[in-house]
Amino acid sequence: MDNRLPENVRPAHYHLTLAPDLKTFTFEGGVAIDIEVLEETSEITLHAADLSIDTAKIASRTFSSESRAIKFNEEAQTVILGFEKTLPKGNYRLSIPFKGVLNDKMCGFYRSSYKVDGEERFMAVTQFEATDARRAFPCWDEPAIKATFTVSIYVPKNLQVLSNMPLWGTSDLGSDKLVVFEKTPPMSTYLLAFAVGELESIETATVRGLPIRVWTTPGKVEQGRFALDVAKRSIEFFEEYLGVPYSLPKLDLLAVPDFASGAMENWGLITFRENALLYDPEKSAISAKQYVASTVVHENIHELYFGNLVTMKWWDDLWLNEGFATWFESLCVNHLFPEWDIWTQFVSSDYASALAADGLLCTHPIEVEVNNPAEIGEIFDAISYEKGACVIRMLVEYLGEDVFKKCLKAYFGHFAYANASTDDLCAVFEGVSGKPVKSFMDGWIKQAGYPVVTAKQYRSGFVILEQERFLSQGGILSREDERKRWIVPLDIGLEGLKEPRRVVLSDKSDQLRFGVGDKWLKVNKGQGAFCRAHYESELLRRLYKPIAGGELPPIDRFGILNDVFYNARAGRIATSELFSLLPYYKGERNYAVWQGILGILWSLDDLLFGTDVSKKLTYFSLSLMDRIGQRVGWDPNENEPHTEKLLRSAVLRGLGNLANDPATALEANKRFKSGASPDLKEAVYGIVAAHGGEDRYQSLLDMYRASNLSEERVRILRALGKFRSTDLVRAALEFSLSGEVRPQDAIFIMGSAGANAHGRNQAWRFLQENWEVLNKRYAEGGLFLLQSVIGAICGDFVSEDKADEIEKFFAEHPAPSAKRAIEKSLERIRMNARWLVRDLDSIREFFTDRYGDFLIKHRNKPG
Ligand code: BES
Ligand code: ZN
Repeated sequence: MDNRLPENVRPAHYHLTLAPDLKTFTFEGGVAIDIEVLEETSEITLHAADLSIDTAKIASRTFSSESRAIKFNEEAQTVILGFEKTLPKGNYRLSIPFKGVLNDKMCGFYRSSYKVDGEERFMAVTQFEATDARRAFPCWDEPAIKATFTVSIYVPKNLQVLSNMPLWGTSDLGSDKLVVFEKTPPMSTYLLAFAVGELESIETATVRGLPIRVWTTPGKVEQGRFALDVAKRSIEFFEEYLGVPYSLPKLDLLAVPDFASGAMENWGLITFRENALLYDPEKSAISAKQYVASTVVHENIHELYFGNLVTMKWWDDLWLNEGFATWFESLCVNHLFPEWDIWTQFVSSDYASALAADGLLCTHPIEVEVNNPAEIGEIFDAISYEKGACVIRMLVEYLGEDVFKKCLKAYFGHFAYANASTDDLCAVFEGVSGKPVKSFMDGWIKQAGYPVVTAKQYRSGFVILEQERFLSQGGILSREDERKRWIVPLDIGLEGLKEPRRVVLSDKSDQLRFGVGDKWLKVNKGQGAFCRAHYESELLRRLYKPIAGGELPPIDRFGILNDVFYNARAGRIATSELFSLLPYYKGERNYAVWQGILGILWSLDDLLFGTDVSKKLTYFSLSLMDRIGQRVGWDPNENEPHTEKLLRSAVLRGLGNLANDPATALEANKRFKSGASPDLKEAVYGIVAAHGGEDRYQSLLDMYRASNLSEERVRILRALGKFRSTDLVRAALEFSLSGEVRPQDAIFIMGSAGANAHGRNQAWRFLQENWEVLNKRYAEGGLFLLQSVIGAICGDFVSEDKADEIEKFFAEHPAPSAKRAIEKSLERIRMNARWLVRDLDSIREFFTDRYGDFLIKHRNKPG
């Protein structure tokens, strides 16, 4: 359904006044909107949801009229104000009083709770993106309808009030005060924000004097030091990098105890989940530090440029916000923390999840038609974020970084305080760079999916490359897919050559103009192009040596393995080729590559769970991890790099929970009792849960209750879903719905129970039994929480029957806001089911015929 507002009236300025009541959880408000009537009318339609409105008034210097009828359209979330008189074209002030509820759904104007000395207190805060400003006040709630705002809020004197702009003035009203903020520049409604509560702050300023503050509920503000410093340094970096300054006079960062996503870039007032902003140097893990830094940087990119200064015309171009923020996030984090090796992590996380998501048949083009809130909510996904970022990475490569910067400066020059589409961006880039940016970008932005490039020898020593759409589930391409082509800038690495050769594939096939002889070649060196590579067997085998010997860098070692896994699952190559390749990674030391290896082993573990070869896979995994396990050990070395700590945690989790290594389980239990160091906690909790019973469950629960660090509580909730006893998984799931777990955090239990092969059936049963509750809880503000729960619980099953069962359930229990999440899960289950049917015999054969060989050949051999 198309819910766009009529274009006969435009707002120019909103005077918004609100009086929230933190005792009754309601608010009263009034909005006076300066509007222009562009076409004569007696009706004005604007957005409003869950608000009560009884009257409205419109006036100009010479005209005034009262509302005669007020009609709500619940489906469209609009209110239609009918006036006594027809309004001629011209300027007016429209005044609407309204009332609303401070809800507990984490959207609109909502309440969040926290404790001070054991006593429960409340704050009120907003979350408007994408379509929930209309829950706080009647407005034209579309991103291209920009206006200026002045916000005024009545509150009890003891409370702090924050909004997008600095304070303009306060008037004393006895026990209350009226707080008025300065006028904003022209901006979209989804970026407006205000917050009321007992808040504490710390402050700094950038080199040019921009004040930055971090705010928290009482007692936590010192944990904001790290984020404060990252905020300052990232703004300084961007202002220098592009030479375009941040537009507002201040920036506040606020931690909110109940928060649906990770963080939200309200202009001048970024809101965060506590664990995305707070970092305690004594108690936090290094992974938390990276998460906080990435989140702060990501939101700052919106603050300065993409989203807040230049906004997409409509949500179908969401990637202009989120894709750019995701790419720039890595650029800036890499600058601030060069030792984190972020670009390699970009490939193992962002790039890999984008390829995984976009290989499904039910994927969508980056630019995709969306009309209603449920559809809009669903594209905050790996396509808009991660694929978007990968396409930008290719574009930067193609243009060169300096030209890219010039293009961006011109783009901000044209569109500051206004809106742009992908075509607008491409036109500016084309003009500045003189290159055919649009035709290059169109294939990646307007087509769903991406190509697989097949490398074959066509005459001895020469290689031909061919592209066609890659589908994760394999099978025959439709006519339409058959015709798809992309412009693919490929770097080809060749044995003995320092620099890769560049070829640009634009037709179906192209032959390399140079001979390869019997040397190895690596297609897509650096994994710059958004595609997979598929080598014929002989060419793949030549890569074993440079993988094991480290002649290929980590990014390429990751890329080869990732592609082989997906090609095996799609049936393009035999799964035994995957198993033959894996042992060459025994000597691997890079964190990102291990992320890849472990991810694959986990997937295989899910695939083979319950089959007769599952044990064999466990041994296979153990023998793969053996050497790295000894190398990383349990205790950090002095001055070891950041990534070594991340690696240790990942490897120990693998050894304990995947390879079921008894020695690892023993040590984890020992450290659990004596108190593990922060960087090891996640691994230790997870391992003791997987190997433990009721007493471990009880200790984890006690620790949860005793901690007030959100990061630690999340860590424990994740562990609670990892028990292998179905009773304990059940208990954990029940606990997730209790008053002791915030709805925003309950998903961590459900997610880890769903990812746990032993708990998956319980989790699925739990979801069905509690569907009403879950749907009610998450279908509004937390709709992406619902999507992630469904994905985590349903996505890893491996049987057609289960897919049918899940399909049937959701046919009877519709969840429009999780439509794509359900489709994705079904496609994944059926794809895995087919894979198992197709390849189980040959996998069994590999383990029976060659596993013995494998052990002898690879045990303790250097590589
Ligand atoms: N604009 C989003 C927040 C958002 C997400 C609003 C979904 C509405 C729906 C924000 O910039 C964002 O992307 N946040 C991420 C964190 C980031 C580090 C990827 C998030 O919330 O996970
Ligand atoms: Zn974002």
